Amino acid sequence: MALILRRGKVPSTPHTEFYGKPGLFSLEEIHGSYGFSGAWSRKLHARSYPTEMALPPKSAGFVMDHKPLASKPLQPFLLQTADIPAGQDAVRGRRSLLLGSSTVVSVVKPVRSMPKDQYFKNGEKHELFYVQEGRGTFSTEFGDLKFRPGHYLVVPKGVTYRVELDGDSAFLLLMESNWPISWPDRYLNPEGQAMMTAPIVETEIETPVFRGPIDKKGRYPVEIQHAGGLVTRMTLSHHPFDLVGWEGALYPFAFDIKNHHGIQREIHSAPPQHQTFESGKAPDYGFAICSFVSQIEGWHPKEVPAPYAHFNVDSDEMMFFSNANYAAREGVIRPGSMTFHPCSVVHSPHGDSARRSTSQRGKKNDRRAVMLDTFFENLQITETAWKYRDKGYAMSWYKMAHGT
Ligand SMILES: [Fe+2]
Repeated sequence: MALILRRGKVPSTPHTEFYGKPGLFSLEEIHGSYGFSGAWSRKLHARSYPTEMALPPKSAGFVMDHKPLASKPLQPFLLQTADIPAGQDAVRGRRSLLLGSSTVVSVVKPVRSMPKDQYFKNGEKHELFYVQEGRGTFSTEFGDLKFRPGHYLVVPKGVTYRVELDGDSAFLLLMESNWPISWPDRYLNPEGQAMMTAPIVETEIETPVFRGPIDKKGRYPVEIQHAGGLVTRMTLSHHPFDLVGWEGALYPFAFDIKNHHGIQREIHSAPPQHQTFESGKAPDYGFAICSFVSQIEGWHPKEVPAPYAHFNVDSDEMMFFSNANYAAREGVIRPGSMTFHPCSVVHSPHGDSARRSTSQRGKKNDRRAVMLDTFFENLQITETAWKYRDKGYAMSWYKMAHGT
């Protein structure tokens, strides 16, 4: 993140003698990336290093279901993720749908908060959540983020957290990457500010509300994901949220999809116009995240608002429809539908939706969808994805064109 924040108490000069609490020598930790060359934050612990474990590491007793389903015919997919049953909490309830060498796409529908005083850390992937339903608090060592429907939550690798629900349900889309997730480079000026031509304003992020140190001794399990979905439990001898302060450019934040300020042109715009986040380095590796938000359709006198048939040979495309107001797929999708078009599978509007869309020239649409496009990375579906696929999707264009 370009914004450098300071919360709580930190010494003005890094790695110098400091007492965050009277008489207590604060212990410094660097949460870095890219080998001390990328975004980083320094954290000042009240009295214990985060290395102090009360118990030896052991298996957490569960693994993430990161198992691709092999040997299925190549085809376009429509996954009805709304039908996937809810259950468990925001960690144990994860159901992966798409898997690649550096990317994982899952849904999680927790029905309860994570157990009290139990924490999670993704040690192998950066995380991006999109909140489809539910509210709650995403608590981290950096502070608390309140979340609500329409929020993106950007969580750098290594952040320790606990998810508390306000009610008894939530529906989250989770996108994981080997690489940090931030604004596209092309949106930023040399100083790291979002340019005035960008659809995002970096100061519209919501940052963690710092609570001060929870300075308690005890046994605090932190479950850490690693090695392709294994989970190890490390039990700290003190509360993991024991910071007296922190400062830096690496921290979790929330961003409301409504703050993606869509830019439109007279004729149809290709997806990069709708990009919000980037992971890795487009267009070489990682992925792009696009937000299809409510905006004016093109106003050229002969504009066709619906997209063209298309495919990008170097991208696998996942699209999550937060609402069903997407004219090109009318009658096919519902809230929570996910399309997945892998390996150069072409896709297009359905039926005569392209012709019908001409009536929407210059009018405001009410769509909301999140798209993930990989770069030079193929994704495979999982058993869960296969189970919740719409079996008629591959033939749906033919059927709608011919009324069969
Ligand atoms: Fe597409």
